[in-house]
Amino acid sequence: ETGMFTYDPGFTSTGSCESAITYIDGDAGVLTHRGYNITDLAENCSFLEVAYLLLNGDLPNRTEFEGFERAITLHTMVHEQIHKFFEGFRRDAHPMAVMCGVVGGLAAFYHDSTDIDDAHHRMIASHRLIAKMPTIAAWAHKYAMGQPLMYPRNDLRYASDFLHMMFAVPCEPYHVSPVLSKAMDRILILHADHEQNASTSTVRLTGSSGANPFACVAAGIASLWGPAHGGANEAVLTMLTQIGTLDRVPEYVKRAKDKDDPFRLMGFGHRVYKNYDPRAKIMARTCHEVLEELGVKDPLLDVAMELERIALEDEYFIEKKLYPNVDFYSGIIFKAMGIPVSMFTAIFALARTTGWVAQWNEMITDPVQKIGRPRQLFRGKDHRDFVPMDKR
Ligand code: SDX
Repeated sequence: ETGMFTYDPGFTSTGSCESAITYIDGDAGVLTHRGYNITDLAENCSFLEVAYLLLNGDLPNRTEFEGFERAITLHTMVHEQIHKFFEGFRRDAHPMAVMCGVVGGLAAFYHDSTDIDDAHHRMIASHRLIAKMPTIAAWAHKYAMGQPLMYPRNDLRYASDFLHMMFAVPCEPYHVSPVLSKAMDRILILHADHEQNASTSTVRLTGSSGANPFACVAAGIASLWGPAHGGANEAVLTMLTQIGTLDRVPEYVKRAKDKDDPFRLMGFGHRVYKNYDPRAKIMARTCHEVLEELGVKDPLLDVAMELERIALEDEYFIEKKLYPNVDFYSGIIFKAMGIPVSMFTAIFALARTTGWVAQWNEMITDPVQKIGRPRQLFRGKDHRDFVPMDKR
């Protein structure tokens, strides 16, 4: 059946699970959410429309969407005492460290919506997590900058509100560019959910014990932070900057193939996609659109395109089926938008919170769900007789 794995209750030895949210055909390079192709969703929906789809299983009609958007909007503020959480961090702390700490801290504030057996409490916790992530991510950036934390605004839509909190200052009005807002909406959609990746599996496994949903999402943020996962978008920009010019691209492609060289092409390769990541295609198109509409010329885009051209013609990459993934172009767009490199993965976490929450709800409401308990292949020593220390 499409998208279904062999059901193995509670993450036992295979670590597989059953889900109806996202389907990936890695060989064909296909990604669908609840049956809808990612390209159709990215080109035609707002992020909250896709969030509704992931959570509820169907695209909303106008009334359903307006009700959902209103519900999310009313949860975008965070408890005033959360300000004190930020003050406890160093200004140069990585935003992902701040987000992990603050979101975990929300578990100390929202006791009332963590009775996970109650559908209303699960919905409130889900809405709170989706709604507050843009505020927490933007505040992590503002705190690092030493600028005042900007409050969310109910008259702005999700992506625009996030950009406003990121870039506005109290002393003058900030107009959110429709170009940037549309691009951000699309980027959030492309990062919303992706089946059982490392961070989503972390959220499911943490949640399978009945843990607080805010603490589960904090665990997901920690997993996503790694450079092999969500941290790759930050690593791609660092790599492109390290390469710097077109004439140095062949040298780095050569290094990526050398087993003895730790250098890897960040933004390339994927455990599941053995074809082009469909999100990367949309991201590349968005990258060109945004840079053109902003009138930005970034030489790193030329380096990225040359890297892709050479790698796609190179037999090492062809044989290992290595293609650009979702992280390869996103950083160039963020850079053009004026977003600092340290915030790239924080935006990935902001978007992926919706997928984590949808997958957590699916897992926690599964009637046959059990606590996750992966097994192992034991490679240790057989029985040994004990020897007292003085005789060792
Ligand atoms: C994300 O799981 C998801 O769905 C994740 C994600 C999501 O939306 O949640 O899609 C988001 O994490 C995208 C991936 C972002 N990471 C990077 O771009 C970092 C660079 N990529 C690599 O680290 C790597 O490709 C991984 C970690 C993504 C996957 O590595 P795997 O699991 O080893 O991939 P593989 O087994 O298919 O690799 C096949 C071979 C291996 O060589 P051999 O063991 O066969 O000799 O290709 C090699 C790998 O060593 N290889 C690379 C490479 N990626 C894999 N060689 C050079 N450069 C690379 N980038």
